[in-house]
Amino acid sequence: MIKNNEKIKVLFVCLGNICRSPLGEGVFRSIVNEQGLSEYFQIDSAGTEGNYNAGEHPDSTAKRVARAHGISVDNLIARQLLKDELASWDYIIAMDSSNIKNISRIGKVKGHLHLMREFDPEGMGDVPDPWGHTEDVFNKVYDMIERSCRELLRVIIQEYSLKVMEA
Ligand code: 4NP
Repeated sequence: MIKNNEKIKVLFVCLGNICRSPLGEGVFRSIVNEQGLSEYFQIDSAGTEGNYNAGEHPDSTAKRVARAHGISVDNLIARQLLKDELASWDYIIAMDSSNIKNISRIGKVKGHLHLMREFDPEGMGDVPDPWGHTEDVFNKVYDMIERSCRELLRVIIQEYSLKVMEA
């Protein structure tokens, strides 16, 4: 159950915060919306090396692929993951195992720290870094993220006994 109207805080993390984690943020927010659960969530994304791209909007192929799937990540802005925020997230969802190592190097996580594809019904492993790759690679990454986000939300709904809006 949610205590004192607190939000369930979910953060998506990758390296640069311009490809994978903005897609995670956008896709998860869209699925949460779809199920009428927005009021219960705080959703964000960050990069362990967000300084590479801090202040930038997502990669143009990531934006295009998102749009083709009916969501927009156009207005998101890349930022660096900060040590001070690590303890405040209930779920930190990392795209690959090097992200997990980098997060642990930055500081101590209090909530759940998971790899995104721990929730992928079609298989475990990393969400590969698509930066500089073709739209085809971005589409595969998008599909992994979408499958995983649906399962992640199902797990959180159970954990917090959230009531889902009837379709
Ligand atoms: P992301 O992809 O971690 O999915 O946002 C990358 C973006 C930028 C860089 C590497 C990966 N870079 O080296 O600038």
